[in-house]
Amino acid sequence: MLVASWRSPSNIALVKYWGKLDGQLPANPSLSMTLDKAFTQTRVEAVTTQGGGRVGTLNGDPEHPFKAKLDQLLQWLTAEVPQLGMFTFNLTTSNSFPHSTGIASSASGLSAFTLCLIEIASKAAGLTPDQDMLMQMASFASRMGSGSACRSLFGGFTVWGETGLVPGASGLFAVPVNGQIHPSFRNLHDAILVVSTVPKALPSSRGHSLMKAHPFASARLVQAHTNLATCVAALSDGDTEKLASVCENEALTLHSLIMTSGGGQVLMEPATISIIKRVQYARRGGLPLFFTLDAGPNVHLLYPQSDHEPVEAFIRNELLSFCEQGKIIFDQCGSGPSSNGYHQP
Ligand code: PMV
Repeated sequence: MLVASWRSPSNIALVKYWGKLDGQLPANPSLSMTLDKAFTQTRVEAVTTQGGGRVGTLNGDPEHPFKAKLDQLLQWLTAEVPQLGMFTFNLTTSNSFPHSTGIASSASGLSAFTLCLIEIASKAAGLTPDQDMLMQMASFASRMGSGSACRSLFGGFTVWGETGLVPGASGLFAVPVNGQIHPSFRNLHDAILVVSTVPKALPSSRGHSLMKAHPFASARLVQAHTNLATCVAALSDGDTEKLASVCENEALTLHSLIMTSGGGQVLMEPATISIIKRVQYARRGGLPLFFTLDAGPNVHLLYPQSDHEPVEAFIRNELLSFCEQGKIIFDQCGSGPSSNGYHQP
């Protein structure tokens, strides 16, 4: 039996990936910040079996709802790395945050699983890839399970998708862009305000496919490239106002695209809007914070480390009451995956 365990973080996109091309390539480039406290830890035991190349159990459950997604990724990876076909994989896994609520559990979960699989395949083949090679391979492979997962393999800020702005940027895997980040943003904070833990109404695979016939698709493509350029410039100049305006524009664009897709889903809750209005009002009053959203009702509030005390006081005093059972995850920019063993939650 071979064993691997990895802890991999979630990430929050500042410029959103929404819509994809064949081959699990993104329609537009995206930029994200890797988180620190919002992570998945996964331990995989690979048992040699006839007819392997499949997931046996997930937390002891052979019928776990997340298993299909893992099997899909595993099948793709087994075609690339045939050694994996010798094994059945049993997973023990846990998240540090509630799943399916707009905090990207698929990003952390699938990147952690991919790292375990690549480590096991390497052990089976007697290889020891260096850390950079391991992360690039895992980024390449994990995007087959969930596009945004490929950005979780690197600490700091990451770009995925073709753009002339970042040397080496590709749709096949993500690349870190930390050399271009102003010191004041290197430990940007992200307070995740959990408005609702009800599983999200729109699976992102459905949302991506709805973009194919979306009447605003071509305009979105142009806008995403422009916003990426603004975001990269703001991150490198240390310009909080510019970063705030482009991040909020991206969040509202994502939800506008969702609302105007076939099916017309509204994923924001009244509390989401209340928080957004209070954040924008506080910023006009001089408090340096801004919001972004994933495809769900929860709100990510971003602010520089230098201002964390007044901002967190504002969050606790003015925004806590909008959160489900007062739930807030105070997170920040993180350093990427680690293989330091599985710890019982
Ligand atoms: O990785 P997916 O297929 O779950 O898509 C994620 C898309 C968003 O989270 C809404 C945006 C992003 O870039 O992370």
